[in-house]
Amino acid sequence: MRISVIGTGYLGAVHAAGMAELGFDVVGVDIDAAKVESLNQRRMPFYEPNSDPLLDKHVGKGLRFTTDMAEIADADVHFVCVGTPQRKNSLAADMAFVNSSIDAMIPFLKDGSLVVGKSTVPVGTAEKLAERIEVATPESVSVELAWNPEFLREGFAVQDTLHPDRLVFGVNGDNAEGILREVYARAIGDDTPVVVTDLPTAELVKVAANSFLATKISFINAMAEICDVTGADVTALADAIGHDERIGRKFLNAGVGFGGGCLPKDIRAFSARASELGAGQSLAFLNEVDAINLRRREQVVNLVREHLGTLHGRRVAVLGAAFKPDSDDVRDSPALSIAGQLHLAGAQVSVYDPKAMPNAARIFPTLNYADSATEAIADAEAVLHLTEWPEFRELDPAVIGADVANKLMIDGRNLLDRDAYRQAGWTYVGLGRP
Ligand code: UDX
Repeated sequence: MRISVIGTGYLGAVHAAGMAELGFDVVGVDIDAAKVESLNQRRMPFYEPNSDPLLDKHVGKGLRFTTDMAEIADADVHFVCVGTPQRKNSLAADMAFVNSSIDAMIPFLKDGSLVVGKSTVPVGTAEKLAERIEVATPESVSVELAWNPEFLREGFAVQDTLHPDRLVFGVNGDNAEGILREVYARAIGDDTPVVVTDLPTAELVKVAANSFLATKISFINAMAEICDVTGADVTALADAIGHDERIGRKFLNAGVGFGGGCLPKDIRAFSARASELGAGQSLAFLNEVDAINLRRREQVVNLVREHLGTLHGRRVAVLGAAFKPDSDDVRDSPALSIAGQLHLAGAQVSVYDPKAMPNAARIFPTLNYADSATEAIADAEAVLHLTEWPEFRELDPAVIGADVANKLMIDGRNLLDRDAYRQAGWTYVGLGRP
């Protein structure tokens, strides 16, 4: 079986490499020639643990990348992995890449082939695309469309692709389920759940899952706000409620909130789509989830201002720029957003991130970027721990304390050793902790 993957961003590039690892002949297509060149040179155009070795192993053998859509003509299964970012002037998803790639694919779809959507889309998209393909292909060419949402987490993308915790196949034809089972046969373990459903349900599973995760995080962050006005400790609260199996401890880490290319834009697009469908009230709570999340960033800026008296001219070290560790992705990153807000308020901000500085500098070239955490911290009047890279937890508060002008640590992830910082003479401030 031959496979094509359209769109080689965080999702598509890893999916293409994963499909090659599962034993298929794979062509990845992207309109970005620089990305394609990097992939053909066996380098992911972004940082993702364990993904370069897969390119090393398969590029030039079963795996290749191209900008030429005609090269998908041999493929039996086409995965659509293009981005659906937030639109410029609205909360809804921008479907331009999905629509243009489907149009570009149509002339090259062979009879009996299967188009599989993986991008996160507004519910109802798959049925419309199926119609579009049906209308635009000749009668002699029968093509099915399925929806197979992707749940991979950045930082664990390879593992999540090769060993998914569940698979969802949204189908509306006779052959799609069988073909998808064949594609994923080597990734489906004995106990991997496979949920076969209709197209709209499959589309909804993805946004429902991300909305639930976002809600869980904003719930605990709302509790952090209550802890702040009562003197309670949100980390102990999360541990205690997390012992209830119905709740679970995962995704109850209070801090600067969620970011990245998925959760923020997905809840906004889902809420916008519900309004279009006349069901806006059902998802009105997601607007609150978003508002709580954005308040976290403001709160950190306010904390720095309160502790330093003013932001103007103050030297602030920001540890982290990526939206989470093990990633160089700065899309909607709380760390970078806070760094930017502090800078705009007149602070002298020095940022360090082990992987994300080139991406951060493209978006925010006016910030200072340090070569190491210790360089960022040197002479700072406040240090902010905003992305939980393990190396930041390894910093010795006594050693780094010797260089700073003022020992103020604001731990935006509630993960540093509070006692060790206090013993070393720091003012340690957690979020939602006394
Ligand atoms: C998410 C979903 O987890 C994944 O299933 C989906 O396919 C894409 O979106 P990802 O964006 O890679 O994946 O990151 P995730 O690990 O979910 O973290 C999202 C954000 O939430 C990060 O900014 C993280 O720091 C934050 N977060 C996570 C918290 O603030 N607290 C938590 O307890 C957990």
